[in-house]
Amino acid sequence: MKATSTHLDDTNLTSKDIGQPLLQWYDRNSRPLSWRPSPSSYATLVAEFMLQQTQAAAVEPYYRRFLSRFPTLEALAVASELEVCSVWAGLGYYSRARAIRRLAQVVVEQYEGQIPSDPVLLRRLPGVGCYTAGAIASIAFGVRVPAVDGNVSRVVARLFQIAGNPRKSGRVRNQILEIAHRILPERRVGDFNQAMMDLGATICLPLRPRCSECPLADRCRAYINGNPAQYPERLESRLIVEQTHVSAMIRRENGDLLLCQRPNGGWWAGMWEMPRVVCHDGEGVLAAAVRAGIEVVGMHLTPHEIVANISHTVTHHRIQLYVITAVGDGDPVPIGCSRIRWAQPDQFHELAITSPQRRALKAVGLWTALD
Ligand code: ADE
Repeated sequence: MKATSTHLDDTNLTSKDIGQPLLQWYDRNSRPLSWRPSPSSYATLVAEFMLQQTQAAAVEPYYRRFLSRFPTLEALAVASELEVCSVWAGLGYYSRARAIRRLAQVVVEQYEGQIPSDPVLLRRLPGVGCYTAGAIASIAFGVRVPAVDGNVSRVVARLFQIAGNPRKSGRVRNQILEIAHRILPERRVGDFNQAMMDLGATICLPLRPRCSECPLADRCRAYINGNPAQYPERLESRLIVEQTHVSAMIRRENGDLLLCQRPNGGWWAGMWEMPRVVCHDGEGVLAAAVRAGIEVVGMHLTPHEIVANISHTVTHHRIQLYVITAVGDGDPVPIGCSRIRWAQPDQFHELAITSPQRRALKAVGLWTALD
């Protein structure tokens, strides 16, 4: 669609100007995501927690598995943290898994198992920020509040040509939030919010927006002025840090593998992995495997060979993980971890093993679970 008329002079674009064309577009183009057709408030909650830092396509299989394992809020509230984290394993950001379980417990204890619809009450629950509260309140209960994530923020910044960057400036964030509130329609608020998310995810793309397909192009100031990709203003890009990690694969004669649990706090808190260290500058990977034995599990190791090499990214770190088989001398003790255990490969899927380590176990043929 080409812009025909402009609404440039209209400083007060309202719900009608934006809501109607956007909802019409959504009715024809909404993404067929599993959580959309008539979700319960619990299903919406699960989807929105998973979607906090993860793209919709990646969430789909986890969402279905999570709901079949914990079909109700009550089932989630009585599950152990380990069970919840192991179903979550692979999605990353495990603090979300712990928070949603605690949230379920709080809702059972304080709200008789009914998720509140008031965004103010929702925000007091574990793991719920302004965006998630808005998404749950609007999608599950039709409450007229915006849900502003990065995609929606970009759409608003372009529609209204907002100067500044919302991640850097609270004033810009508030301005965008205020506009996102003002343009909400009276009805179908949840659909409107999800339409804004879909528009941001599929059309109003960060670098190359597809304005010719946008239902709002003729009322988008940045488009009309020929510079949509310049909004919102960019932050200086964060430097990528390259790291090499080394894990020692230590097995007993009966096939048990030595695993250790990460301490609370930091990356992969509370999850399981093979003893691992971050390589020092200039340190060889075999020497690092020896150090992993001493520093993490108090063992003297003889390293053998590299059996897996996995690349993965955590926040702004690009990590190369080497897995090295090693033979240990003596019994392990938890020195640089909170607990240790030996596990047979058919027990791995019961443990919340970090995602790169699951990939490494798959690479060496030790991951037997069917996922
Ligand atoms: N991102 C966060 N919540 C979403 C939703 N309900 N639909 C699509 N993308 C989303």
